Amino acid sequence: MDQILKSLPAAVDPRVLAGTEDDAGVYKIADDLALVQTVDFFTPIVDDPYDFGAIAAANALSDIYAMGARPLTALNLVAFPKDGPLEVLAEIMRGGAEKAQEAGVSIIGGHSIDDKEPKYGMAVTGTVHPDKIIPKGGAKAGDRLVLTKPLGMGIISTAIKVGRASEEVIATATRHMKALNKLAAEAMVEAGVKGATDVTGFGLLGHLHEMLHRSCANARIFLSSVPFVPGVRELVKVSVPGGTRANLTYVGEKVEWAPGITEDEKLMLADAQTSGGLLIAVSPDKLDTLLAGLASRGVETRAVIGEVIEGDAGMIFVEK
Ligand code: CO
Ligand code: CO
Repeated sequence: MDQILKSLPAAVDPRVLAGTEDDAGVYKIADDLALVQTVDFFTPIVDDPYDFGAIAAANALSDIYAMGARPLTALNLVAFPKDGPLEVLAEIMRGGAEKAQEAGVSIIGGHSIDDKEPKYGMAVTGTVHPDKIIPKGGAKAGDRLVLTKPLGMGIISTAIKVGRASEEVIATATRHMKALNKLAAEAMVEAGVKGATDVTGFGLLGHLHEMLHRSCANARIFLSSVPFVPGVRELVKVSVPGGTRANLTYVGEKVEWAPGITEDEKLMLADAQTSGGLLIAVSPDKLDTLLAGLASRGVETRAVIGEVIEGDAGMIFVEK
């Protein structure tokens, strides 16, 4: 995908402040106002249609939050079989609508097509002050890395498909995936953070590498500080998504592993996430403000997983 995007003509309008290289596109419409746009949709990852709709909406909104922006409106994207059960479609869309409502976002339209395989998501529009955009490339050596949701959603989603996930694991993963990154983003903006992204399909390592690459820095992370959904350690032995294996291959020599880290642990760190948390690079003097802001807003995961260090290769050193 990256290769294809690079081969297309680039945006030349100077009002384009961020494009395909960042979480969302940003277009300046006035000195104090920029539009932020993003779109995401996918096939069901949990069995409950309401939860699927809510997760798809939270996931679509996430890239707006990752930029430090505020989402305002959304358009539904729906693919559903024309002879499929309408009550299922209604539940998917109710999940999406209630999640949008929770975010304070108005759904102002959408489009649906006939498709054998259901898909749901949203195109979201928000705004940000042009000087307050939080890009991926704003991390600096010395910054601490904070993650706001546990990992393991890809491994668990695959376990659900093959009937290996317990009710408890499904419930916990669903709760995290449905959670908006809204409150975490508010805390991040309040603390004056300069670099962030959200952890989605390329997993923690893939998105962290992107962040470091664009920031011309390296990082050190501590496996023992990285939060995982309980149960992932067992499920990684039975259900690893193809995307997670591909992620691990993709980061390849960009990661240096401390001796003793197992293949399972590598896969857990590379796991492809859906509606994952924010990955925030915060300067050490703002760390306490950020953590306090996350805590006071009830963001339950606020793990300091490592730090940005000098370098320019986007290298990640994983310690035990
Ligand atoms: Co993103
Ligand atoms: Co790179």
